[in-house]
Amino acid sequence: MRTIIVLNPKGGCGKSTIATNIASYFAIKGKKVTLADCDPQGSSKDWLSVRPDIHSAINGIVMNDDRLQIPRNTEVLVIDTPAAIGDKRLGKYLRKAQSLVMPIIASPIDIRAAESFLDELFSFKGTINNKIKIATVANRVREDTLIAAKLEHYLGNIKLPNGKRLPFMTMLRASQNYIHAAERGLSIFELPPSKTYYDREQWAPLLRWLNSKRSLPNK
Ligand SMILES: Nc1ncnc2c1ncn2[C@@H]1O[C@H](COP(=O)(O)OP(=O)(O)OP(=O)(O)O)[C@@H](O)[C@H]1O
Ligand SMILES: [Mg+2]
Repeated sequence: MRTIIVLNPKGGCGKSTIATNIASYFAIKGKKVTLADCDPQGSSKDWLSVRPDIHSAINGIVMNDDRLQIPRNTEVLVIDTPAAIGDKRLGKYLRKAQSLVMPIIASPIDIRAAESFLDELFSFKGTINNKIKIATVANRVREDTLIAAKLEHYLGNIKLPNGKRLPFMTMLRASQNYIHAAERGLSIFELPPSKTYYDREQWAPLLRWLNSKRSLPNK
């Protein structure tokens, strides 16, 4: 089973948006997808509850007593996590997933919070040693702003504890497409291609990573 977790304890950085879009992407590809909503706020669960039946099916589950009951036939598990998670939970999540996508907003406060979270992440035994592959995504970017350039520079230069560069996948622009899609239980991949051409282009590097061995733990 392919397991992808979307994680960043900073609230509102785009975890649920990215988790639901990843889930839909794999469902459109014909995979049996389970979307696990570990956030009591329930954004992914709500998204699924308004998802029209005619679109590719995605199975939704929620955390129960700190446990996830993952349906046996799941091929791709996408985990949406809450903001402000404690260490114990974080360790649990990290053990569950092969690939971690960390969305970051281009704002000084969010960049600083991301820096300290990455330090925390790297200090977890097992995160390093290639147990989980991490990639960052800049989200809700207003292009051509100084802070977007700063975030791009920062994300492009983070080093893993083993000295290798932490993959920075892509910048996703701030777009009403995400909001319109979310309202209807859809992803940008289910809106007209003519309206979402640019967003799809921006997603391509992240999807390439998720489809490649680069995002899987070393054997
Ligand atoms: N690229 C984007 N363009 C425009 N709006 C976006 C984008 N990404 C996310 N949003 C909007 O920003 C808000 C926060 O996004 P989202 O709920 O995905 O963040 P989150 O990290 O899951 O938040 P929380 O920490 O509360 O769970 C939502 O209203 C969402 O529709
Ligand atoms: Mg959320």
